[in-house]
Amino acid sequence: MTQSTSQVAIVTGGSRGIGLAIARALVADGINVTVTGRDEGHLSAARARIEGAGPGAVETLRADVRQYADMERVIDATVARFGGLDILVNNAGLGIFADVADMTPAQWSEVVDTNLTGVFNACHAAIPRLRQRGGGFIINISSLAGKNAFVGAAAYCASKAGLNAFSEALMQEVRYDNIRVSYVMPGSVATGFSGGDESRGADWKIAPEDVAEVVRDLLRHHPRSLPSRVEIRPSRPRK
Ligand SMILES: NC(=O)c1ccc[n+]([C@@H]2O[C@H](COP(=O)([O-])OP(=O)(O)OC[C@H]3O[C@@H](n4cnc5c(N)ncnc54)[C@H](OP(=O)(O)O)[C@@H]3O)[C@@H](O)[C@H]2O)c1
Repeated sequence: MTQSTSQVAIVTGGSRGIGLAIARALVADGINVTVTGRDEGHLSAARARIEGAGPGAVETLRADVRQYADMERVIDATVARFGGLDILVNNAGLGIFADVADMTPAQWSEVVDTNLTGVFNACHAAIPRLRQRGGGFIINISSLAGKNAFVGAAAYCASKAGLNAFSEALMQEVRYDNIRVSYVMPGSVATGFSGGDESRGADWKIAPEDVAEVVRDLLRHHPRSLPSRVEIRPSRPRK
């Protein structure tokens, strides 16, 4: 078992895309990080890329944010390995895009259970551990889709609008415990999100590393004030 005085973070869905970039940035800053995801192959490929990023240690755990027991196990294992928990980044998310009339109830549940209930699961299990450390940070990766609804995206937009409201309520609940809650709303990011090709649009989209830089800035921000909601968008979106 490794015990240290370094800060400790969990990044859900840290095996690919934005979560992977966030995990690399935290490890580069000397933070010990647990990364979760559903697919063992994605996790072992990610481990190799995160380990080389800096002095922080990395743990990878297969866990589905939709399953409360999985999130409890992740938090307990992280505390056992690293000695506590300071930072929770709720990044795991997915998009299934279809008109409401065509979307199946199972698809609706998959989106809402991952993007919204998954964040509740992780926060519920993590808050007692953050309180034990005297405070910490919860950063939720939402989306501009949470305020700009569009056709064919009712489930995704609703899940992210719900996440925004959840984040604001939670921020007010835990702030006097020195737990800071922020949510980040990116526009289009060059990842494999929703079966996309991460290289497509890489010339104009936000890079995953840009979102990671926002997370870093939030963690470094002076504790007397809180940037509780950050929007980030491509500077020159495709016309
Ligand atoms: N890309 C964009 O344009 C964009 C824009 C705004 C917001 N976002 C948000 O940013 C976050 C990350 O998106 P991304 O673009 O990086 O997507 P991505 O490349 O598809 O990566 C998604 C990550 O989440 C994990 N994941 C998915 N479902 C999970 C579950 N039930 N339990 C645990 N892990 C799960 C995936 O791991 P496995 O595949 O191994 O399960 C993967 O590591 C999401 O919340 C997304 O809504 C993305």
